[in-house]
Amino acid sequence: MAQYDVIIIGGGPGGYNAAIRAGQLGLKTAVVEKRVTLGGTCLNVGCMPSKALLHASELYEAAAGAEFVTLGIDVKPKLNLVQMMKQKADSVTALTKGIEFLFKKNKVEWIKGAGKIAGAGKVEVTAEDGSVSVLETKNIVIATGSEPSPLPGVDVDQNRIVDSTGALSLPEVPKSLVVIGAGIIGLELGSVWRRLGAEVTVVEFLDRITPGMDAETAKTFQRSLTKQGVQFKLGSKVTGAKAGKSNVSLTVEPVAGGAAETIEAEYVLLAIGRRPFTENLGLDSVGVETDKRGFIPTDHFKTSAPGVWAIGDVILGPMLAHKAEEDAVACIELIAGKWGHVDYNLVPSVVYTSPEVAWVGKTEEQLKEAGVAYKVGKFPFSANSRAKINHETEGFAKVLADAKTDEILGVHIVGPQAGEMIGEYCVAMAFKAASEDIARVCHPHPTRSEAGRQAAMGVEGWTMQA
Ligand code: FAD
Ligand code: NAI
Repeated sequence: MAQYDVIIIGGGPGGYNAAIRAGQLGLKTAVVEKRVTLGGTCLNVGCMPSKALLHASELYEAAAGAEFVTLGIDVKPKLNLVQMMKQKADSVTALTKGIEFLFKKNKVEWIKGAGKIAGAGKVEVTAEDGSVSVLETKNIVIATGSEPSPLPGVDVDQNRIVDSTGALSLPEVPKSLVVIGAGIIGLELGSVWRRLGAEVTVVEFLDRITPGMDAETAKTFQRSLTKQGVQFKLGSKVTGAKAGKSNVSLTVEPVAGGAAETIEAEYVLLAIGRRPFTENLGLDSVGVETDKRGFIPTDHFKTSAPGVWAIGDVILGPMLAHKAEEDAVACIELIAGKWGHVDYNLVPSVVYTSPEVAWVGKTEEQLKEAGVAYKVGKFPFSANSRAKINHETEGFAKVLADAKTDEILGVHIVGPQAGEMIGEYCVAMAFKAASEDIARVCHPHPTRSEAGRQAAMGVEGWTMQA
């Protein structure tokens, strides 16, 4: 029987990064993955295909709308959805093959099949042909990720009523699309289909969009999406959906009470969150506990069972690929007897819409709730030269700093390429920078990053360019 130092169940960003790090540290490592390709949700049906469609649809809209005309480029683009989907699939294939290459490079074995814990130090693998093998290992890392949360009364058929996976591969541009949930998936994929021509209505339970995002930033973001044509029905819940041959009939009720209404749409995207995936994992065989919502509670990635660790979407914390990656490195370093650590306050978030939204650290609401005295510096992109030249002046950069120490506590950016800009602040905050540290660092001109610097200047009231 094969003997391993680490067997990782799941080959997503948690699992594959854990495997690579384990390989680097000389541990005999295998990943059990049941999907036909590596990369998990992120590479196959998540981050990467969604970003491929966001990129393509953004360019299509720019070419089809007023923007190209303004720039002096006269074109009449024609949508080729089949090619748009193909280039998405080609990029995904290249990326998943890249993980196979990294496994070989780091001497990681990929064991194809569904993994199940079969007692202490044992993982049973059922291959696609039904054959079963048992592997022995010193450590098991659960990295089985998450799946879309269901909604009673709304049955996902991946035909008319789809989840994110279905929404990444619709066979046509819907005339009308109702998105249930104004979270990141709903707004990213809703944006894709709106740009390609769909009429998009977003139904959200709460009275705001993107819970967790700084409220002022979310308001600016919503205003921008509304201007683009996305319609919002906030404070509303979907209580039923009936799929017909070519449309869906939705029953929507105000959360505060009142009359229900019926909305018709060609397609419905259900995106109300994701839940941890631990089906058929044999957790009981070793006594790994889960909480009420199905997450595996951990202490420094250790589960309640000795020798069994868990990382990524299946444990608590933001359900993000880069968070899973951080978990992975720290967990493996702890297994290898090193010091693994993740600062969850410094896990950034990005919504890859247009404009993008990116943030790290605390929101104003969190600081108020914690009773922390803070100062705000804010700078609009309408005063940033690069944004002006590019005709992309929506949004702002906002820096929140401790009123006494000036330490940066949170940064919120809404505007194009906000996701690229936030990295600077992640580094600054990891080094416990004060807002003045950023304000006094020379930034390249003309770049959007200057808006980040001007916002930092604003904390001490000396913003110069607005
Ligand atoms: P997963 O990526 O879900 O991987 C788990 C793997 O385990 C899967 O491949 C599964 O097949 C396998 N598995 C499960 N059970 C077993 C078993 N018993 N045996 C063998 N294999 C098993 N995050 C970002 O940071 N940025 C983004 O832009 C972003 N965009 C997203 C867009 C969409 C549409 C979605 C759905 C998600 C997006 N995410 C994004 C979230 C990101 O995909 C997840 O946070 C990330 O994939 C979690 O990684 P993971 O390794 O924990 O789990
Ligand atoms: P989400 O948690 O971001 O948003 C779900 C939304 O649905 C919330 O606004 C919630 O209030 C609402 N909601 C819940 N129940 C509802 C109901 N019954 N009716 C109407 N609205 C309801 O979840 P989402 O968008 O499904 O994404 C899941 C996760 O995937 C995200 O939390 C994120 O971690 C990850 N993701 C990250 C991306 C990125 O980093 N760019 C992109 C896409 C997904």
